[in-house]
Amino acid sequence: MTDSAIAASGLRKAYKDKVVLDGIDLDVAEGTIFSLLGPNGAGKTTTVNVLTTLMKADGGTVRVAGHDVATETKAVRAAIGVTGQFAAVDELLTGQENLRLMADLKRLGPGESKRVVADLLERFDLTESAQKLAATYSGGMRRKLDLAMTLVGKPRIIFLDEPTTGLDPRSRRTMWDIIRRLVADDGVTIFLTTQYLEEADRLADRIAVLDQGRLVAQGTPAELKRQMPGGHVRLRFSGDLELDSALRVLGDSTRDDENDLVLRVPSDGGARSLRTLLAQLDAHSIEVEEFSVHTPDLDDVFLSLTGRTSTKVDAR
Ligand SMILES: Nc1ncnc2c1ncn2[C@@H]1O[C@H](COP(=O)(O)OP(=O)(O)OP(=O)(O)O)[C@@H](O)[C@H]1O
Ligand SMILES: [Mg+2]
Repeated sequence: MTDSAIAASGLRKAYKDKVVLDGIDLDVAEGTIFSLLGPNGAGKTTTVNVLTTLMKADGGTVRVAGHDVATETKAVRAAIGVTGQFAAVDELLTGQENLRLMADLKRLGPGESKRVVADLLERFDLTESAQKLAATYSGGMRRKLDLAMTLVGKPRIIFLDEPTTGLDPRSRRTMWDIIRRLVADDGVTIFLTTQYLEEADRLADRIAVLDQGRLVAQGTPAELKRQMPGGHVRLRFSGDLELDSALRVLGDSTRDDENDLVLRVPSDGGARSLRTLLAQLDAHSIEVEEFSVHTPDLDDVFLSLTGRTSTKVDAR
């Protein structure tokens, strides 16, 4: 026995002759948030479908909540909740009716059903809209209702497929808070997919980057960022004269692509190296107008791993 909530090894899946998952290994510890990050078509939803028993893998093994997804489907389903990429809300029912329906499906008694539904409406700030048809809800409200429906059965492991895609910044933050509280208060495990680097960075204990069916990196957000070179100092000068002198004095500096008066100097951003850098400039009486330190962010990681920028991913 391990305390892994989700453990997959050598997971493979193809649609006809198109390989979508090409040997995926992952391990998600209980009570943590794991984020699967990847561009459109990377295989995120396919991974979720296999881990949640909605789809059979062609190869490999997956254990969820200690049960084999291929042979112990029922036990796995009892332990998990899934909020799919596209809301499972019934538009012709009210928010409250949608939740009651879930409670019935989960076979809660009438008293408990009432209590659980009222509690969830309250928690997701939907009490006021509870009697309105879900068809009249905004995208953000629908997402919240969808997640509330997932929580009816008190699952220990929750799969969220792109829970914040299409939400405005405020609703996204609300969703993040809800997810964090689920982990902090109830100790559930969250497996979430996203295309947003910032989301993975803010929420996840561990991140795996999926690209064309393979995991191209795994680790904590900090570990992934550390793998990246790309840290540098930007120096802005008042004129070409200063910049040219600095270029001569500082060995491996390069001109910035976007700004003629800016130099980029590779640096780990530490106090010691910054002091040395400034002292070098000082010794040659080179004036610097502006000075900034850049540490690599997950955008750099994504770009270098998948050969695409996240902006390009978002725009597709
Ligand atoms: N039922 C299917 N039949 C054939 N091909 C499929 C099927 N479902 C998905 N695919 C293909 O598998 C690949 C991975 O799809 P998947 O939906 O898992 O990607 P994703 O990472 O969830 O993408 P998105 O960010 O757009 O949701 C894509 O190339 C897709 O076209
Ligand atoms: Mg998807």
